[in-house]
Amino acid sequence: MSNKSTIGLAAENYMKNYAQFPVSIKSGKGMYVTDEDGKSYLDFVAGIAVNALGYGDEDEKKALLSVLDDGVLHISNLYYNPHAVHAAEMINRLAGSDKVFFCNSGAEANEAALKIARKHGSASGKSTIISFGHSFHGRTYGAITVTGQEKYHKGFAPMLPGVVYAEFNNLDSVKALIDDHTAAIIVEPLQGEGGIIPAEKDFLSGLRELCDQYGAYLIFDEVQCGLGRTGKPFCFQHYGVKPDLLTLAKALGGGLPMGACVAFGAAGDVFQPGDHAATFGGNIAASALAEVLLGKLPALADSVAENGKYLSAKLEEIRERHPDKVTAVRGMGFMQGLDLSVPPRDVISKCMEKGLLVCSAGYTVLRFVPPLIASKADIDKAAAIVDESLSEL
Ligand SMILES: Cc1ncc(COP(=O)(O)O)c(C=O)c1O
Repeated sequence: MSNKSTIGLAAENYMKNYAQFPVSIKSGKGMYVTDEDGKSYLDFVAGIAVNALGYGDEDEKKALLSVLDDGVLHISNLYYNPHAVHAAEMINRLAGSDKVFFCNSGAEANEAALKIARKHGSASGKSTIISFGHSFHGRTYGAITVTGQEKYHKGFAPMLPGVVYAEFNNLDSVKALIDDHTAAIIVEPLQGEGGIIPAEKDFLSGLRELCDQYGAYLIFDEVQCGLGRTGKPFCFQHYGVKPDLLTLAKALGGGLPMGACVAFGAAGDVFQPGDHAATFGGNIAASALAEVLLGKLPALADSVAENGKYLSAKLEEIRERHPDKVTAVRGMGFMQGLDLSVPPRDVISKCMEKGLLVCSAGYTVLRFVPPLIASKADIDKAAAIVDESLSEL
């Protein structure tokens, strides 16, 4: 097989919901992936903020081989399995949370959080969910409804009832909407798909106070910004504000599908047997990889804290060198963006020609979400390619 033959086969067999770049990735090692024609790329996409340990990590390999040796990849939630239970305990220890529900994706983790909030509110007539402009929470009906971007709703009406939208980083806009019928506020502490926009500290602490005042749950969606990406195990730990519910996915399963809805305090006791489920939730192979990631998380987060500063300094240099094309640098740790006045897709294509994978966020942002193992030398190389690509445009 080659890039061309795989892409041809995809044209015949895939639905057209993705605007894919014309390469087909076959293998990887460390920070690099290689396509079917043998070309290698330095990867600053990481499967969209998934592959925290890069490619070919020896501990991941050992963990998966040991699960294969045991012979059971999946057993359902009719029974316990030690890998999932241990992963839950590790999350609770790292996050200071109390209870975990495992599922398979970020959207599913958010669906679980919304159901918990509505069930909790049902006794007192609370069902409204407040969400924010520029947010992104996934593609299922509940998740697209709380995604405050019109483009994700277009053509799919009607959305879920009882969702209202406030302005991100504007507490007054939340005060204007919150009332005794509010069941929850859902927010990304660092917005991802909406354009890499960090929440302000006063904004998140203000949301916490409003939720306490009105008896609503505060849901932090850390599907993208959680699990070490911002330089702490969880993004909310930068803010000193605890949610009632925290949603995770992406990096959690080490490249296998895995999501989690994590509860603090009483929110962990809302679901009762029969209220919610996921056949593959806590899948044994995915959980074994989660154990590997969670074991390395404190050290990884420390290294991201240091190298993230280096990445943002390099991106600032790029902004200074290309003031006509780069309007801003935003982000935290290894979740950074360059706001561009040229189409991100043109820059991405140029970078790919030169052997670097980067992706976009929103309409104008070039996004950098490398594996958490990226070194200063990797950052230097990526920055040089982006700089050169911008010069050529
Ligand atoms: C903040 C956030 N929430 C939820 C999701 C949805 O995750 P998934 O694609 O695993 O359903 C994403 C995906 O990009 C995300 O960035």
